[in-house]
Amino acid sequence: MGRFYEKIVRPTLFGLDAEHAHELAVDSLALLGRLPPLCRAMEAWVNRGSAARPVRCLGLDFPNRVGLAAGFDKNARAWPAAAALGFGHVEIGTVTLLRQPGNDRPRLFRFPAQEAVINRMGFNNDGAETVSLRLAKQPGPGQRRIPLGVNLGKSKVASLDQAVNDYLGSFARLADHADYLVLNVSSPNTPDLRKLQDEDRLRELLGAVSRANRARAETPGKVPKPIVLKIAPDLTFRQIDTVLGVIDEFGINGIIATNTTLERPEAFAAVGQAGGLSGGPLRRKSTEIINFLSRATEGKLPIIAVGGIMDPSAAAEKLDAGATLVQLYTGLIYRGPFFAAEVARALRHRER
Ligand SMILES: Cc1cc2nc3c(=O)[nH]c(=O)nc-3n(C[C@H](O)[C@H](O)[C@H](O)COP(=O)(O)O)c2cc1C
Repeated sequence: MGRFYEKIVRPTLFGLDAEHAHELAVDSLALLGRLPPLCRAMEAWVNRGSAARPVRCLGLDFPNRVGLAAGFDKNARAWPAAAALGFGHVEIGTVTLLRQPGNDRPRLFRFPAQEAVINRMGFNNDGAETVSLRLAKQPGPGQRRIPLGVNLGKSKVASLDQAVNDYLGSFARLADHADYLVLNVSSPNTPDLRKLQDEDRLRELLGAVSRANRARAETPGKVPKPIVLKIAPDLTFRQIDTVLGVIDEFGINGIIATNTTLERPEAFAAVGQAGGLSGGPLRRKSTEIINFLSRATEGKLPIIAVGGIMDPSAAAEKLDAGATLVQLYTGLIYRGPFFAAEVARALRHRER
């Protein structure tokens, strides 16, 4: 299946502008998601002969270890079809409180020789209210084939001082629909967003969101949701240590490592495109960070690993480094729609 994609489908898709190809993929999945019997049949087919061990993480049951990373389905249109491709969870978003168009196009670039992508999308999304109304019409928590994460970011027009209220507004609209929530403080394409990883700002953000989360328990029928933080690969180990201290202080449930990098390996020295780099060149950096996180937390904090999973061995490497779950995005572009199923099958016998 992967061969057919790489020989026949990929050349056609790569003939299109990268964002058009992406929109085509999202539209196709949105259509597929409207046909639940077909999704069920495909899900049975992609999982044929593979009894993947269910994985418990963040208090949730995952049918396998491989998830669709944030950024593919920003507006919750495609996720109902993700299980049909073999994914064991999906993370929608990043969603911001306000609807926003993102940066000017073109803003998504492929680098096939390195199996990489640079993006500077800038959180183009429909906004928390619209996404929440869409989720309300789709299967909710407890009715889903696979867990759904909702990834939250800061609206571009919100200043750093307004950031906490911006996240709280999104949290209030979206928490009911999420199996877990992600605070994204690591995308490189929203000015100042990464400053929220600084100790004082992070403390303010995690303190406010965890208070709002605990307060859910006071409303009948509502429960606190697992909350995880998504970090950048460009932090130093010392900065990561500080982040871990704040995570511990507020009882944050897990960490996603990593987002895209601003670093440019040698092969990209002459590439002038601004934005975050993902895919092959991110693999090693992301694994090093997972290793560090796992050691620093003595394996006690759930780690969701993402960055440069372009073959099953890269996913196994992330589990060896201490991750419980993995996610991928760029691999889907280069390996095709059933790549997650291939990775999940390769990992199915692993205890971790
Ligand atoms: C086009 C594109 C858009 C992305 N948008 C988001 C986003 O909105 N929020 C987020 O947390 N990460 C976003 N990411 C980062 C991915 O979720 C992931 O962390 C990163 O790409 C590394 O994984 P990969 O090498 O498997 O792609 C985006 C990545 C790409 C390629």
